[in-house]
Amino acid sequence: MLHTKYFTIVTYGCQMNQHDSERLAGQLKSIGYEYTEILGEADFVLVNTCCVRESAEKKIYGKIGELKTLKASNPNLIIGITGCMAQKDRNKLFEKAPHIDLVLGTHNVHQLVELVKEFEQTKNHVLSVWDEAERLAPDVPTIRKGNISAWVPIMYGCNNFCTYCIVPYVRGRERSRPIEDIVKEVHQLGLEGFKEITLLGQNVNSYGKDTDQYGDFADLLEAVDQVKTIERIRYMTSHPRDMNDKVIDTIKNSKKICEYFHLPVQSGSNTILKLMNRGYTTEYYRELIAKIRKAVPHASLTTDIIVGFPGETEELFQETLEFIKEIGFDSAYTFLYSKRSGTPAATMPDQIPAQVKKERLQLLMDAQNEISLRINKQLTGQIVTVMVEGPSKNDESRLMGRTATNKIVLWDKQGTEEIGQLAKVKIKTAQTWLLKGQLIN
Ligand code: SAH
Ligand code: SF4
Ligand code: F3S
Repeated sequence: MLHTKYFTIVTYGCQMNQHDSERLAGQLKSIGYEYTEILGEADFVLVNTCCVRESAEKKIYGKIGELKTLKASNPNLIIGITGCMAQKDRNKLFEKAPHIDLVLGTHNVHQLVELVKEFEQTKNHVLSVWDEAERLAPDVPTIRKGNISAWVPIMYGCNNFCTYCIVPYVRGRERSRPIEDIVKEVHQLGLEGFKEITLLGQNVNSYGKDTDQYGDFADLLEAVDQVKTIERIRYMTSHPRDMNDKVIDTIKNSKKICEYFHLPVQSGSNTILKLMNRGYTTEYYRELIAKIRKAVPHASLTTDIIVGFPGETEELFQETLEFIKEIGFDSAYTFLYSKRSGTPAATMPDQIPAQVKKERLQLLMDAQNEISLRINKQLTGQIVTVMVEGPSKNDESRLMGRTATNKIVLWDKQGTEEIGQLAKVKIKTAQTWLLKGQLIN
């Protein structure tokens, strides 16, 4: 009998990459590979990469180095690199790390099976990186990681070209999936037992703008809200510039769309926003938030912020600090500006020294943590509805769930809870990143 071949996938980066890994796993399974979590057990290791910041790239090169040792002890090991760094660096990857066998671009995910076969026949480096995507890549088998929550891409690529960002260069132009395909997939996921779906795109609010056939993002939300087989709908990421009244109204009137808005502001300074090519001002953003809060009063609000963008003076950084205090985000993902060669910001004057960036990041995080804690504390004593997701990572006797507003809640397991079910929990204590409570029967 042939020995079973095992594969593993190491994934970095955003949800879109996580989902691509599910489509890569499905393809490998279709040609007889079984999944293993253990790197040393794998016959095929695929690294799905991210290049949004230098720190991500460094980590990945570290991992690729590790694989060289692994290959020395197992010469038959196949090593593949895919994702955004593969798209960007292409055959440079073979030069830097000749122990790599396969390089697969972001537009070539669906080709994995044929490329693996090609490698098995030739045992030579195989590279497939298209500069541009086909309008829509063919469907491939998919193996989902979770069983409660599933990702559903609604559009690929980005046309925004924020001046710091590499994504438009490695993910290509915006391409929307047909609305019927999305609705069908969501319906099917519900039949398979998934309760929550997250609609994915780099800028979901531009859904449908690349064609006149599918309607816009609000139309899509409305259609997905009608799907009977699922209970919760989330989406990522929305660009503040393209968030409009129609979308806000649709969310307000929907049954299933979560009251959660992630709107990356990036900076609280108009000077920097302009240099970033974000296409909005702080005044616009403030008004947008006011509109959202009026329409959906219990909504939670999170954001992304970059510190140390070129030209960010001490004064302009203070504007960002003031702005986050004024808005009062539930939480913020904060990043050190990272120079990405090929992007306009990389060659802008007045780059900020690393030490200054770090100090600013710390100040920003301290300020935000205080705000997050204050907002979470307001929830103590209240009863919230969560979807039961499973045991807490650190403590098996506790369960973890998430509110529609995307707050993580932990409670002592009672034994009556079922994974995927909605449960009521009374909040006892609040921390910066999570809430703890007691199950209400
Ligand atoms: N399309 C999404 C996600 C982009 S990447 C969006 O527009 O929100 C996620 C976050 O990474 C961005 O919001 C930004 O805050 C951050 N980011 C992107 N490029 C960066 C860079 N060069 N340096 C630091 N942070 C960056
Ligand atoms: Fe990058 Fe801006 Fe596109 Fe987001 S919207 S992926 S930050 S270019
Ligand atoms: Fe990274 Fe590519 Fe996502 S650069 S953030 S994995 S789109």
